[in-house]
Amino acid sequence: MTEPNPDTPASGLDPHAEGLKLPPGLELLTKVGTGRAGTVYKARFQGETIALKAYKPSAADWYRKKLDKNIAVYEMMQNRAYRKQSELVNYTAKPIRVVGQDGKLSLCFLQEFVDGITLEELGERYGHIPGYLMRTGEAIARVCEEHTIKGVDEFMKGVKLRQKASTWVPVMFDFKHIPNDGPREIKPNLLQRLGIGQRPPSQPGFMGEWELLNRRLEKEAG
Ligand SMILES: Nc1ncnc2c1ncn2[C@@H]1O[C@H](COP(=O)(O)OP(=O)(O)OP(=O)(O)O)[C@@H](O)[C@H]1O
Ligand SMILES: [Mg+2]
Repeated sequence: MTEPNPDTPASGLDPHAEGLKLPPGLELLTKVGTGRAGTVYKARFQGETIALKAYKPSAADWYRKKLDKNIAVYEMMQNRAYRKQSELVNYTAKPIRVVGQDGKLSLCFLQEFVDGITLEELGERYGHIPGYLMRTGEAIARVCEEHTIKGVDEFMKGVKLRQKASTWVPVMFDFKHIPNDGPREIKPNLLQRLGIGQRPPSQPGFMGEWELLNRRLEKEAG
């Protein structure tokens, strides 16, 4: 019988086949999804299941040219700014570290893995967004406003709901988006502008979007 080689994971993905060069101690488990900026994997690191965000070189170049910033560091810093705020800790994935910043390994950001469902999935399950969740959303928006923390509308777009006891808790994890600098807007869509769509939301930003989703769900439920 041969001893299992500790360097070769029994299951999981081969980084080489994924086009990645990773430091030892990082084990790719499964691919979670690919977006505009790169691919996200579920991985193991120091005994924990984490999210590994591997950025495309083209996305890294774009952030370098547009913002003069390293995309992985940029995402980690925005993540940290949220996590630093005590009232937002429960609603923010834990940032871990950036690897590959020196260019010798693939550029990645390691972050807590958020095991949850999307707002749309929650809506399908319940037929509405529960009232307590709307209030949690409002509390998050308020904290960000009071402390002038930017980006909540962008970061809440990709939010996942994680079950804790019998409630759903929104957790933000997608911090690569560039915050909109203008005032938070209430955006009516084309039909609303023509006066034939549903009423526009009464709140700006992501809460307005939650409100519209809720109205649509309640209408569908009859
Ligand atoms: N920390 C995390 N925990 C769990 N899932 C994650 C985490 N980070 C990202 N994901 C998931 O990985 C997938 C890819 O995310 P990513 O943000 O790169 O792409 P996207 O949301 O599809 O597109 P976009 O580029 O517009 O953000 C998504 O399904 C996202 O929900
Ligand atoms: Mg995303």
